Amino acid sequence: MNNFWQTLKKPLFVLAPMADVTDVAFRSVIAKYGKPDVMWTEFVAADGLYATREKVGMKDEENPLMQSLLFTKEESPIVAQLFSSNPENMEYAAKLCAKLGFDGIDINMGCPDRSIEKQGAGAAHMKDPETAKKVIQAAKKSGLPVSVKTRIGYNKEEIDAWIPELLSQDLVCLTVHLRTRKEMSKVAAHWELMPRIVALRDELAPDTLILGNGDVESIEDGNKKIEETGCDGVMVGRGIFGNPWFFSGKEVSKDEKLKVMFEHTKLYEELLPQKNFSIMRKHYKAYANGFDGAAELRAKLFETKSREEVEKILIDEKII
Ligand SMILES: Cc1cc2nc3c(=O)[nH]c(=O)nc-3n(C[C@H](O)[C@H](O)[C@H](O)COP(=O)(O)O)c2cc1C
Repeated sequence: MNNFWQTLKKPLFVLAPMADVTDVAFRSVIAKYGKPDVMWTEFVAADGLYATREKVGMKDEENPLMQSLLFTKEESPIVAQLFSSNPENMEYAAKLCAKLGFDGIDINMGCPDRSIEKQGAGAAHMKDPETAKKVIQAAKKSGLPVSVKTRIGYNKEEIDAWIPELLSQDLVCLTVHLRTRKEMSKVAAHWELMPRIVALRDELAPDTLILGNGDVESIEDGNKKIEETGCDGVMVGRGIFGNPWFFSGKEVSKDEKLKVMFEHTKLYEELLPQKNFSIMRKHYKAYANGFDGAAELRAKLFETKSREEVEKILIDEKII
């Protein structure tokens, strides 16, 4: 197994998977302006990848889910995040990711989305560790290094019961979002619990890297959390919105920010032509923020339906 994880230097700063946010367009921008140690794709349904081929007879290349598995070589190392409670489907999808050239597979065992939980996947794995372990073993058949992203428990903190189940699986990396399923993202992440997770790792699986996730606001904040809790690195989610420079620690001017916003827009249209343009709105909300006139600019950007319309606004504003 070609395990890129062993070549990385600690502390690790990695990009979180975020559906309809960290797609190939945004990740390409991040790779250029502030590359993290590892990138994650958005989550992808392993069941959907398998079913379209087996049941509908559709070729993998025609499957719309493949949009979420697009990546460029500049993003490497990149890990594909899959979800499923069906080992056979997971094996199929993980092997497909190996063929596509991904560096690793991550299994989503923390997502609170009801439609995903109904399939026994995401956070629902915490209620059924035996299935979770079968799904992990199935992903390993791809030959790629396998990691898991999870939470500290379902309705309440269950670190002592749940985390050892995962640590028994010889994972290359375990990312823990330091909230329960029930807490969603509504309370502050429980970083005070991380030392217990690290102690379990030291005892049960010393080779498994541990990443903490939740509310990391800057490189400085990440380093502080790593030093205080003993984990190997941090995963950053919402901190990257409107700030593809996050991992470089660079401060940029308003004009530079808006120029890169346009570069992001062009890549979005070019690389993901089938996706709805309105998805760019959450990025515009974050890029056009924190300067005089930001609210007015945001309002105009929210009305746009194409790259040309965005271009026109930015020419009028003398940004490009
Ligand atoms: C818009 C959005 C989409 C997300 N999609 C995923 C996903 O596809 N897979 C996943 O494991 N977590 C997903 N998450 C959770 C994040 O990866 C991360 O765990 C969470 O945002 C907490 O980290 P943060 O405080 O740094 O944002 C998503 C979060 C957001 C805000």
